[in-house]
Amino acid sequence: METLVSSWFKDQSLPENYVFPPETRPGEAIVPVSKNIPIIDLGKSVVGHDHRNNTVQQILNAAQKFGFFQVNNHGVSERQNDYSKDPRKGCSLYTSSYNYDNEEIHFWRDNLRHPSHPLDEVIHRDVVGTYSVEVRSLSLRILDLICEGLGLQPGYFGDEFTNVQLLLVNHYPPCPNPSLTLGLSKHSDPNLITILLQGEVNGLQVFKDGQWIGVEPLPSAFVDNIGYQFQVISNGKLRSAEHRAVTNSRNARTTIVTFINPSFSRIIEPAKALVNECKPPLYRAFRYGEFLNTYKAVKGDTEAALKPYKLD
Ligand code: OGA
Ligand code: NI
Repeated sequence: METLVSSWFKDQSLPENYVFPPETRPGEAIVPVSKNIPIIDLGKSVVGHDHRNNTVQQILNAAQKFGFFQVNNHGVSERQNDYSKDPRKGCSLYTSSYNYDNEEIHFWRDNLRHPSHPLDEVIHRDVVGTYSVEVRSLSLRILDLICEGLGLQPGYFGDEFTNVQLLLVNHYPPCPNPSLTLGLSKHSDPNLITILLQGEVNGLQVFKDGQWIGVEPLPSAFVDNIGYQFQVISNGKLRSAEHRAVTNSRNARTTIVTFINPSFSRIIEPAKALVNECKPPLYRAFRYGEFLNTYKAVKGDTEAALKPYKLD
């Protein structure tokens, strides 16, 4: 295995193969943390019809405008430093990305990746187990709220739309030169929806209207973002926002990410209820596995990922 950044970052200045070209590196520009990305109180969605409608509207607006929002009062117990370090079956520890051997420039991050559903097939540790179950029910709850807002029936995303759940721990050690490198370059997530625990260190940025904006680090909140599949299923109503992770020279940053994915064979297409004569489908049907191959092949070109599936 390639050596983790964590094991050598203290001894070195930034190696050449971590330097991004001028057009994609963060540079010296200061990216302010945005107060506009909505922070939604999920506790309110359980206490009466008006509150619930209000929550639905807030989530839907955020998912349309930013592709990003944060939720608190989410009912998940927070134990973010308790994740498993056990690389067992199906669990892997690696640096930069799965594509280490083929990439010219590496990301300043280390990863632990762990499949987390169905639990009894993959789980060996209670902490990851409890966390995964709770985050799963949070994800399904958020999906139901969005369904309600879009006019899809509750439970629309049962089974094959959501049955692959992955837990990824990103670790970004302090970096000698954050302006030249990235923890993760600009991308949209390939899956349906992502639920991320950012912790208290700043670093996640969203690309909106040609500008980078920072996502406020709120230790008790989950950051949620819309993936490509949800953009397709919503027939373009929701946006899969582009985002990246920057590093900093002072503090290590660890994020815990849950990806909710369809199974490879699931057919993805705009929901029938969201397509009509006035709103023709924007995308053709495809299998999720087919999309993943495209996603890998386009190497982070966010425009190109959905191109083969667009109808004119
Ligand atoms: C990701 C991601 C952001 C972060 O893992 O897809 O966008 O802040 N992570 O770690
Ligand atoms: Ni991402």
